[in-house]
Amino acid sequence: MRIGVFDSGIGGVNVLSCLIKKYPYNEYIYFGDTKNLPYGDKTKKELFKLASSAIEFLISQKVEIIIIACGTISSTCYYKLKKKYDIPIYDIISPTISYLKESTYQKIGVIGTKRTIESNIFNINKKNIIMHETPSFVPIIENNLIEDKKKDIIDELKLFENVDILVLGCTHYPLLKKTIEENLNISTLDMGEILSEKIKIRNGSNYSCKLYFTSISVNLIMNIENILQTDYQIYLK
Ligand code: DGL
Repeated sequence: MRIGVFDSGIGGVNVLSCLIKKYPYNEYIYFGDTKNLPYGDKTKKELFKLASSAIEFLISQKVEIIIIACGTISSTCYYKLKKKYDIPIYDIISPTISYLKESTYQKIGVIGTKRTIESNIFNINKKNIIMHETPSFVPIIENNLIEDKKKDIIDELKLFENVDILVLGCTHYPLLKKTIEENLNISTLDMGEILSEKIKIRNGSNYSCKLYFTSISVNLIMNIENILQTDYQIYLK
């Protein structure tokens, strides 16, 4: 099966990696809109336009399903996109919401981009939830500055020290998992892992993975190499 996955940049590659682990025999086409990142504080109108271009590119690559590996697009324009296109489209947030609703967690923390937190999508009834936007994290991650900015990251997340679970509500954030778990006593939840557990995809017989980015940097290549432990090709779109 040919599967399309997209995000603003490296974040969705975390999701892609979870999908490849769970469903190794498929053809993956990834689109990362690095030229236009961060998506996190763009208007809904801008996000809808950018997501439409990403989807149209993936459709032109003959994908059979599309996964929105971006919390920001999922929380702001998923239903509008689903209505616009005939192809099956899945968002990254719904599986995590279902998982949280079924869980026994009492106190939940959520971090995400400005638009995701603002959308209130994680506001699940009957749960004690602390939501916090962390707009500085995406540039830190994309520019490989996690080690340099470690203290700022830890300080910003101290308010979550007594939650049962911290939801990484932006797909870039699993790259902070190590820093968080080593320096703060907080367990994290990765939306890509939940999605790949819950989604039902037909397995094909061949593996391939092509990644298209609207701009390519050394940091991007290094980040991809750290995340994907399989063969892949990178292209400039
Ligand atoms: N990784 C995306 C998300 O999950 C986009 C982050 C950004 O570009 O600001 O929200």
